[in-house]
Amino acid sequence: MALVEVSQLQVAFGEKTAVSAASFTIEKGETFSLIGESGCGKSTLLRVLAGLQRQWSGNLRLLGENLKPDARFTGALRRNVQMVFQDPWASLHPNHTISRTLSEPLKIHGETQIAEKVAEALEQVGLAADAAKRYPHQLSGGQRQRVAIARALLLRPQLLLLDEPTSALDMSVQAEILNLLNRLKQQHGMTYLLVSHDADVIAHMSDRAAFMAHGQIQRVFDRQAMLNGEHRMG
Ligand SMILES: Nc1ncnc2c1ncn2[C@@H]1O[C@H](COP(=O)(O)OP(=O)(O)O)[C@@H](O)[C@H]1O
Ligand SMILES: [Mg+2]
Repeated sequence: MALVEVSQLQVAFGEKTAVSAASFTIEKGETFSLIGESGCGKSTLLRVLAGLQRQWSGNLRLLGENLKPDARFTGALRRNVQMVFQDPWASLHPNHTISRTLSEPLKIHGETQIAEKVAEALEQVGLAADAAKRYPHQLSGGQRQRVAIARALLLRPQLLLLDEPTSALDMSVQAEILNLLNRLKQQHGMTYLLVSHDADVIAHMSDRAAFMAHGQIQRVFDRQAMLNGEHRMG
């Protein structure tokens, strides 16, 4: 079953076309990646699929639901599609403890047993329980990104959108986070759409990868093509 079906997707900011005629599908359980130079439209595409960029044209079907431009994500869609950003600060309020940051989405969605779920979320991403009492600035960059991942996973999403989730981190920490993401994907049967400009990261993580340039998908690489290094171009 295709979880994501994108056809002829177009996003323009005034004169500037950020995404042009993008078409692809992502099957349930797949890690599908976008690779390409800065400014080629990767984040814009992810923001459309996260419901953050609501001005677009084309056809978009997410988790079996046909979407319309301008529409806010509600209900199941809102729960089931979560995004992790390059900069973990983007999803962490600087003046809120980690406990509060992780509790809020659960409360908004009417969940119970909040403290237990927060503890479980921290454990899942390999953080000690006492991280709950801390503020973001008291954690390392890698720990902050673990919290951001925990937050994205709280509502058990089916689709995780990962926008350069490790490119702000040191190499060793980067590998830990990527392995964590792969493990969590297995555990929860998730589907990933990953953005990275790093060909090694792409090859390590992806079932298929789309190479973007100037807002367009130029080519899609399968595992064999990536093993051959065909995605290391440009
Ligand atoms: N909100 C916006 N307003 C105007 N231009 C934007 C906006 N967001 C992105 N762009 C432009 O769209 C293009 C694609 O940006 P982006 O999707 O962020 O690229 P990438 O993530 O691949 O680096 C860039 O030229 C960028 O400057
Ligand atoms: Mg980007």
